[in-house]
Amino acid sequence: MGGAMSAAAGGAPVPADPTSARAPAIASDASATSAAGAPRLEIRDVRKTFEGKTPVEALAGISMSLAANEFVSLVGTSGCGKSTLLSIVAGLIDPTAGDVLVDGAPIDGPGRDRGVVFQTYTLFPWLTARENVAFALRGEKLSAKARREVADEHLALVGLESFAEARPRQLSGGMKQRVAIARALSYKPSILLMDEPFGALDAQTRLLMQELLTRVWESHRLTVLFVTHDVEEAVYLSDRVFVMTNRPGRLKDEVRIDLPRPRTIDQQETPEFLELRRRILASIREESLRTEPGIEKEPRG
Ligand SMILES: Nc1ncnc2c1ncn2[C@@H]1O[C@H](COP(=O)(O)OP(=O)(O)OP(=O)(O)O)[C@@H](O)[C@H]1O
Ligand SMILES: [Mg+2]
Repeated sequence: MGGAMSAAAGGAPVPADPTSARAPAIASDASATSAAGAPRLEIRDVRKTFEGKTPVEALAGISMSLAANEFVSLVGTSGCGKSTLLSIVAGLIDPTAGDVLVDGAPIDGPGRDRGVVFQTYTLFPWLTARENVAFALRGEKLSAKARREVADEHLALVGLESFAEARPRQLSGGMKQRVAIARALSYKPSILLMDEPFGALDAQTRLLMQELLTRVWESHRLTVLFVTHDVEEAVYLSDRVFVMTNRPGRLKDEVRIDLPRPRTIDQQETPEFLELRRRILASIREESLRTEPGIEKEPRG
C-alpha cells in the first residue's frame, strides 16, 4: 500500500499510574458497543508495549465497537497512544495482545477493507494526482484506463478534477490531503482510518476540509475512526467521541454527539455544540493535569 508509516513517537517517559483515582468515567473502558447489529470494526482489549531498553506501555487495553457507517473520533493528550491504536487497526503494527476484527474476522496486516489517511502527506512526489490515486488501485483487476477513470472519479469527489495532471509540489497542503483522501476512498474500503489528517493545515483550509469530509461521509457512509487534537473538529464530524487517558492509553469517556445531520459550520455556535465541546475539553484537561505529578494531590502531613 502507498504511504505506510510508523506511529509518531512522543509523550512522557513515565507511565501514568493506572491504579490512581480517576474522576468517574461516563463509559467504562471495559467495552463500548455501538448500535445493534454486528459491528463493522471491533477492537478487543488491544494492548501494546513497545519493547526496547525501556519498554513503553502505550496501550493498556482498548475495547470499542464501531457500527457500519459510524463516525467515531479519538481524542486525548499527546502520547496517549492514539496513533499506535490507529496503526494497529490499520495492520501496520501488531498489538502485544488483543484483536482487531473487521466484520467479525480478525485482520491480518493491512487490507483494502481499510483506507488510511495520515497527517503528513504521503503522496509520491514524482507521480501526478491521478497517478497517485491510480497507483493505489494497482492491485485491482482493472485495465489502466479503468484505473484512471476511477482515479478521476475520486479526484472529482474531493473537488480536484482539474488538478489530475498536477504533481504534489504544485498542490497546496489541503489539496494534497484531498488527493490522499481520494486515494484512500478509491478502492472502496468499508473503513477509513484518519490520523490528524488536517493537523498540518491552516484554520481556514481545515474548515473547508471538515466540510468536505462531512459531505463525502454523508453521501458515501463509511465507517470512520478519526484521530484529532481539535475538539471542535471531533464534535462537528462525529457520532461518538472517545476520550483516552494518558499513556498507557485506555478509554476514559464516551460522548455521544446527537447533533442533527447534515451538519453545518453554523452549528458550532449552538449551546448544544458548545456544551459537548466543554465536556470533552474538561475530560482532556483533567488528564493533562495528571501529567504533572502531584498537581492534584493533597499535601501530606
Ligand atoms: N515505534 C515506537 N517505539 C517505541 N515507542 C513508541 C513507538 N511508537 C510510539 N511509541 C510511544 O508510544 C506512546 C504513544 O505514542 P502515540 O504516537 O501512539 O501517541 P499519540 O497519542 O498519537 O500522540 P500525539 O497526540 O502526540 O500524536 C508514546 O509514549 C510514544 O513514545
Ligand atoms: Mg499521534
